[in-house]
Amino acid sequence: MAARRAAAYAARNSKKHLSTNFGDEGYWNERYGSSAGDSYEWYLDIDVATAILTPYLETEGDKSSRILVLGCGNSAFSAELFGLGYRNIVNIDFSSIVINEMQERYRHCQGMQFLTMNVLNLGHFADSSIDFIFDKGCLDAVFCRTDGVDCVHNVCEQLSRVLVDKGTFISVSYAQAAMRIPHYRKPVHFLWSCEPTNVLNKEKDCSYTCFICKKDVEKWSPAADDAAEQGSSSSEEEEQRGDADGEIEEEDDGEGEEGKV
Ligand SMILES: C[S@@+](CC[C@H](N)C(=O)[O-])C[C@H]1O[C@@H](n2cnc3c(N)ncnc32)[C@H](O)[C@@H]1O
Repeated sequence: MAARRAAAYAARNSKKHLSTNFGDEGYWNERYGSSAGDSYEWYLDIDVATAILTPYLETEGDKSSRILVLGCGNSAFSAELFGLGYRNIVNIDFSSIVINEMQERYRHCQGMQFLTMNVLNLGHFADSSIDFIFDKGCLDAVFCRTDGVDCVHNVCEQLSRVLVDKGTFISVSYAQAAMRIPHYRKPVHFLWSCEPTNVLNKEKDCSYTCFICKKDVEKWSPAADDAAEQGSSSSEEEEQRGDADGEIEEEDDGEGEEGKV
């Protein structure tokens, strides 16, 4: 198993598995245009993602949380949440092709919204208007832009703005924790603490990182955040910065070409 993971890690870092076009709207429109009707889950299966997230979504059975899903693609995850009783879900993606398709597919899910929107501009959302934000693979795609690092910092600032105090942003990434932590905490503090946790995808025999960012205006202190950061060495961070820029993992689920990029 360890050997397989090492091989998977090596593959992640091999150029043939990396691409820079995951940050392009045109790439995704073309991809979704040629896979109409499909539903594909990146990184984690729905039951795993649901088990991780639901503890952050509700308090004592209250399912009225306002939920924002970034880069929803054609994932069925939001429909699963809807089925569990969550009604205030807004899904965004910059691919109008996939958003049109999802609007049609989930027309019966009254109240669940699908909006064509770039995560780089979240001006549509008012300050402190969202309780929970979920990302699975969208920010990895944004990192693939040539200006990806700056863009992700910009997105995080906006996410922090739209999150309510005590709200949670969860980002699931193929990247190892230390590759993303510097970006989710810098260059400015986003008024959240950011803790990574490893999630194993048993079927694919590989692990992903789930970054749990909790906004807490009162408790948050830059000093506390900096102290937590001292765990990673500067040489490690240098290495990770190179890895964070412009890369996303190709999916290989052993099921042929579906889901590959
Ligand atoms: C790796 S896929 C993940 C899809 C879905 N979240 C999942 O878990 O299966 C990345 C998604 O992010 C979208 N995306 C990439 N960059 C974006 C941006 N700047 N604004 C909005 N959506 C974006 C893509 O269109 C694509 O649907």
